[in-house]
Amino acid sequence: AQAVGSEPHRPQVHFTPRAHWMNDPNGMLYYQGTYHLFFQYYPDGTTWGPMHWGHATSPDMVRWQEQPIALFPDSLGYIFSGSAVVDVKNTSGFGQPGQTPLVAIFTHHNPVLEKAKRNDVEYQSLAYSLDAGKTWTKYPGNPVLPNPGIRDFRDPKVRWYEPQQKWIMTLATQDRITFYSSPNLKDWTRESEFGRDVGAHGGVWECPDLFPLRHQGKDVWVLLVSINPGGPNQGSATQYFLGDFDGKDFKAYTKDIQWMDYGPDNYAGVTFANTGDRTLLMGWMSNWQYAEKVPTHPWRSAMTIPRELGLQEVNKTLYLTSQPAQELKVLEGESTLLKKIKVPGTYNLTEKIKNPTGVFRLELTTPSTGDFAVVLANEQGEEVEIGYDRTAHAYYIDRSKAGKVDFEKGFGKRSTAPRLAQSTQVSLTLVVDASSVELFADNGLTVMTSLFFPNKDLTKVLLKAAPGTSVPQLRYTALKPATK
Ligand code: FRU
Repeated sequence: AQAVGSEPHRPQVHFTPRAHWMNDPNGMLYYQGTYHLFFQYYPDGTTWGPMHWGHATSPDMVRWQEQPIALFPDSLGYIFSGSAVVDVKNTSGFGQPGQTPLVAIFTHHNPVLEKAKRNDVEYQSLAYSLDAGKTWTKYPGNPVLPNPGIRDFRDPKVRWYEPQQKWIMTLATQDRITFYSSPNLKDWTRESEFGRDVGAHGGVWECPDLFPLRHQGKDVWVLLVSINPGGPNQGSATQYFLGDFDGKDFKAYTKDIQWMDYGPDNYAGVTFANTGDRTLLMGWMSNWQYAEKVPTHPWRSAMTIPRELGLQEVNKTLYLTSQPAQELKVLEGESTLLKKIKVPGTYNLTEKIKNPTGVFRLELTTPSTGDFAVVLANEQGEEVEIGYDRTAHAYYIDRSKAGKVDFEKGFGKRSTAPRLAQSTQVSLTLVVDASSVELFADNGLTVMTSLFFPNKDLTKVLLKAAPGTSVPQLRYTALKPATK
């Protein structure tokens, strides 16, 4: 098995900045053949600091090239999270007639007001690009949405609402979401609020997103809300609501708490703008509980792989699903298909793969009647176990024996997630990189993302199953480093 990369723990198929601190993805959009990723970035250190928007571009959301910093802090404050839109009709007037401006809508966070312990620290501002995202100019009229006296007032996600020819801004306002609308991205009107008495409230609400998905010929609106802390497995996580939206109010179908990803390491994920019928998301692959302590150098944090979102009904209940975007295929190397594997206790999969690497996609099915696990391991006895627990009707990722865990008390533990599917075959897709695993179970109904930091790469793969369990089909596909 070959070692993965020359820097320990450096992801090979995930975006990481070359150096320094990164958190939330921002302003993701597709325009003229290029995907843009902006991100919360502190270019002077490997912990959080005065925020900039870093920038990267890609032809496929998989092979990213880092670009010069897009937005720097200014007299109005740090550049916090936000979104970007393709202003096709030039509603903002930032373009000359016939020109299509890209417009970024972000939060200014004012450290001077914060120091003075004032409430009006955060407000929304604009920047625009007339050269397809290469360079950005801040709007001299900033801020466009001043603070009404709410301490946490941030992370605007803007989309065009076609039926009423207006922009909708979904904003995180402390313990709820507030919706605003605008004809031109500059003048905003408050429409409604949602969520004070529904969903999870173990922490502050952040980084929302609102978008429709088609289901049986109609639009189901999805509201994503990241929350920190208060996730299902400690710390940060992203919950979602399904419901109706009429240009003013969002009405959820149920009061239930639902999680987009149950693992500890997918936060602040939002969707790309301008991707047509597809809805594509990337999240920040970390957790505020320990993000600043993870043992990587000279960078900190990666994004998840891009995921395509959908809906699936189980027993009359509708759920949000996430699956690896098909673009991941551009990295595919050698693939091995195995059929009818008998797993007598433990099965050494690595020995059956021609050229195993530590970075791969694994797809398999197994009967839901027996416990089953995939173990990533090294010669030093370090391991991460990803499994299905029949009795608990649950999935889990256990990184308690994964090597470096002591940097944070809550890190070395087992995370769990309910199995929502009821089919007799469990289907698992894993995307494994140098220091992460992403589990997509049952076609994306239950998803878990987890980091790990072994002292030596986990290049061995073992299967463990209840006696008599067989795996009808398994495919192992090596993934090549995503360098351009
Ligand atoms: C979420 C978040 C956002 C904020 C940004 C600051 O991780 O706290 O709410 O805009 O990070 O970097």
